[in-house]
Amino acid sequence: MTEDRLNIALVGAAGLVAAPAHLNSIPLIERMNFAAVCDVDADAVQLLARERGVDKAYSSYEELLADPDIDAVDLVTPPFMHAEMAIAAARAGKHVYVEKPMARSLGEGRAMVQAAADAGVRLQVGESYIFHGPHVIARDLIDAGEIGEVLQVRETRDPWVFNETENARLDGRGHHIAWRYDPELSGGGDFPWMMDHAPHFFATARLFNGMTAIERVNAMARPHGEGREAHLRGVTAVTWMYEGGEADGLWMQADMGAEAARYIGFRTEVIGTRGTLLVFGEGGGSAPGFPQVAPVTLIANGTEKYFDPEEGEDRSWASNNSYYDRAHGNTLRHFADTVLDGIPSLYTPKDGIADLTATLATIKSAMDGRPIALSDVPDDWTAYGAG
Ligand SMILES: NC(=O)c1ccc[n+]([C@@H]2O[C@H](COP(=O)([O-])OP(=O)(O)OC[C@H]3O[C@@H](n4cnc5c(N)ncnc54)[C@H](O)[C@@H]3O)[C@@H](O)[C@H]2O)c1
Repeated sequence: MTEDRLNIALVGAAGLVAAPAHLNSIPLIERMNFAAVCDVDADAVQLLARERGVDKAYSSYEELLADPDIDAVDLVTPPFMHAEMAIAAARAGKHVYVEKPMARSLGEGRAMVQAAADAGVRLQVGESYIFHGPHVIARDLIDAGEIGEVLQVRETRDPWVFNETENARLDGRGHHIAWRYDPELSGGGDFPWMMDHAPHFFATARLFNGMTAIERVNAMARPHGEGREAHLRGVTAVTWMYEGGEADGLWMQADMGAEAARYIGFRTEVIGTRGTLLVFGEGGGSAPGFPQVAPVTLIANGTEKYFDPEEGEDRSWASNNSYYDRAHGNTLRHFADTVLDGIPSLYTPKDGIADLTATLATIKSAMDGRPIALSDVPDDWTAYGAG
């Protein structure tokens, strides 16, 4: 590592969903040197290295960790591998960027934090919603007092609509990868989708309220999903109270088709004492056929103002704001800056633990049918081992 460049290795590089966003982003980050790709799929990783002009290709994670030229690992492997891989990397003296969900239990997450602290390396959970362009604009407007005091954060997940190129690339597989439906490998028990996505929703909920902690959640579960997801139970609505009791929030989703919606993807309305923000997140915007809306709208003083980070359209979704790949690239760029400059992270390991706790509490609430305080999630509690 020089003062200017972090030698990074992408692990899980042949993956279908997160890896392409990282493969596209890393070469654009001035302060990163794309030093290696690693995946158990040896053929795929050799091909990737050739195609992407990356010097080294590893099919053994242990061999990668023994390489003294590697400063940091970027783990885009499935959740059941996060703790083990992050801890091994820290012990090998590598800085660690690990995709969400951070881990499957608070115990695993805390062991990761401890290993990084012991080794004196940085640990960053890849919470890309925090660094998504429209979210950053909205956070800045909130922090500047444009909507007054935050009273309520209302999040909605409407259908995500693939763009045609991405649909063709995934060849009908979509995000239907085996571990995503497995109770233990995903970590989510009967609620694997929630385990995979709720960390994003809680990170956003806190981002739009000064990173205030969430105190308790109440989740509603019902049969949800079709086809390969039909055996799963889903959470369709969650409410929460922030610590201090001065604001609350909710998240909701329904499985309608895009043709039934005015908006698609993830969006948040932040209600303040003096204004409202309408913010589009992952895959967010107008449904096909409707005039496109601005990524961020500020409603205050009886008028509307529009904001756009101008990061381009999304690669995966039909959306006018780039979650894949720009939010991922923004998050990775921040990681490089924190390592190279030793500055505090805007999303600390403590934040990773906070959003994992809210996620586990949500699943526990859905299972138990009652509100759950985050302080009541034991360190060794897992969604797949419970009940
Ligand atoms: N931030 C986001 O928006 C976002 C988006 C998608 C996925 N993710 C997260 O990224 C992670 C990966 O998800 P995905 O859908 O891309 O998974 P994926 O199954 O498509 O890819 C995982 C890759 O890891 C590889 N792998 C498995 N074991 C390995 C080992 N021991 N060494 C090296 N490589 C190994 C697999 O061969 C595979 O290529 C998950 O935690 C997921 O939640 C985050």
